[in-house]
Amino acid sequence: MKGIILAGGAGSRLYPLTLVASKQLQPVYDKPMVYYPLTTLLENGVREFCLISTPQDLPRFRQLLGDGASLGVTIEYREQSKPGGIAQAFLIAEPFIGGDPVALILGDNLFYGGDSFLKAFTDYRSGATIFGYPVEDPQRYGVVEFDEQGNALSIEEKPALPRSQFAVPGLYLYDEQVVGITRALRPSPRGELEITDVNREYLRRGTLRVHKLSRGFAWLDAGTSSSLHDASAYVQTIEKRQGIKIGCPEEAAFRRGFLDLEGLRRVVSNLPVCEYRAYLDKVVREAGASRLG
Ligand code: TTP
Repeated sequence: MKGIILAGGAGSRLYPLTLVASKQLQPVYDKPMVYYPLTTLLENGVREFCLISTPQDLPRFRQLLGDGASLGVTIEYREQSKPGGIAQAFLIAEPFIGGDPVALILGDNLFYGGDSFLKAFTDYRSGATIFGYPVEDPQRYGVVEFDEQGNALSIEEKPALPRSQFAVPGLYLYDEQVVGITRALRPSPRGELEITDVNREYLRRGTLRVHKLSRGFAWLDAGTSSSLHDASAYVQTIEKRQGIKIGCPEEAAFRRGFLDLEGLRRVVSNLPVCEYRAYLDKVVREAGASRLG
């Protein structure tokens, strides 16, 4: 499965922070926001990436992530000249997708906990797989309604009267048909190619699966000042308590086998002395010890 990280948009709700750097480069506690969705895809076995952002911000993402070689993966970059909607990603990335299944993740979505994604990625065969997550304010999101057997009945974008509490988070798996489906869409009244319309078309074709995410799972989107602060506080709490890092791409690439121990050592040796390096040094030491033991 290939992966698209969508990291453009206006970021107007984070003004004036987004005057100096795009939303997905803002810090969430101790790392840039984009590290979290990148790590989520790495943890689920994605090895070929396309990152989409604005023409102004793309150079900064390149500087941050490079060509992916240090993680044992490939990362290519494409521009979205104007925010024409989330689904526009499939038209921009069409040459990258090239007839393969693809996971799209939003650059400001943070996920943590459990193995729900791993199961969905492993079980994925064709069609579309999306997720449902109960939230307090579903009217801000795409909302999915289920029947008694747990099958999706309807999906609506930002409904005034939501038919359920289940919002659709920003991680979606599609087969190659997603490009043709998107090409046939008309922009919504707000002038965007809507991801909800893509999902509705898969639903109409009978090839949409919606996995409910379990209670213990965390989904945070960091698009407003207050949710950005909440996300930082959440990450800090878990990291301090458990002595682990959330959203550490080097560790995820190593645990997935994209980098071997020598490769990880090399990456770590190029980092400046800092907390992040100290953490990765610990990962290297523990892996080295368990190899010996
Ligand atoms: P939003 O948070 O809905 O939009 P935004 O980032 O433009 O922010 P604001 O509403 O504050 O102006 O976008 C969700 C994610 O999708 C976010 O990571 C940005 C990304 N995105 C794009 O990259 N291109 C687009 O055309 C749109 C609509 C969103």
